[in-house]
Amino acid sequence: MRTIERGAEAMLSSTDYLDMDAIVKTRLPKRYRDAELDRSLRNARTRKEARLLREARIAGVRTPYVYDIDMHEDSITMEFIRGPKLRDVLGRDMPGARTACEKIGLALARLHSSGISHGDLTTSNMILEGEEVCLIDFSLGNMPASDEDLGVDIHLLRRAFMSAHSEVAELFDSLLSSYLRHNPGGKAVVAKADDIQKRGRYT
Ligand SMILES: Nc1ncnc2c1ncn2[C@@H]1O[C@H](COP(=O)(O)OP(=O)(O)O)[C@@H](O)[C@H]1O
Ligand SMILES: [Mg+2]
Repeated sequence: MRTIERGAEAMLSSTDYLDMDAIVKTRLPKRYRDAELDRSLRNARTRKEARLLREARIAGVRTPYVYDIDMHEDSITMEFIRGPKLRDVLGRDMPGARTACEKIGLALARLHSSGISHGDLTTSNMILEGEEVCLIDFSLGNMPASDEDLGVDIHLLRRAFMSAHSEVAELFDSLLSSYLRHNPGGKAVVAKADDIQKRGRYT
């Protein structure tokens, strides 16, 4: 196993699983939390992530296949997705940027119309796999998602485009119109996101 990334919550290592390239996401203990609480939180997030990766795929969204889940280690072994994070490539000189954004809008419409929220929707949690966009990191998602959860997704994504990708902020319009085209309930979600922005929460 080779460590790829060590974030605040989890460690990512590459490995192989039945001869397939795989990645292991292990949720790390947080020493400042009560041990019992820490264990149950890590357990809950691991289970939730594995479940939502699967539910999202059933909804027609590209996500990594879950190969294995270990409730003692709090780890998920999943398909290794080849490609850069969208965050690192989305810019003026990215070929097909508009198409990619329309695909994100479609993916999000499929998620939301199946009652799933992502919870941490930024371009760091999207991998550009050839011309497709794969969504990862669902541990803060919900199913069934509340109206607020759905609004937060749009709010966070809009904020990511306005800050990390401000030179291509207008691409968010393509994303949003694709989202609205494919999600009948989308207008209400965008209204909720506007509301959240006005309240100045989640900033
Ligand atoms: N299935 C995967 N295939 C390839 N890279 C991945 C995969 N899952 C995670 N990564 C890489 O590891 C990073 C962190 O994983 P992520 O699930 O987003 O955890 P965190 O909660 O720490 O943000 C991602 O930004 C991505 O670069
Ligand atoms: Mg992440």
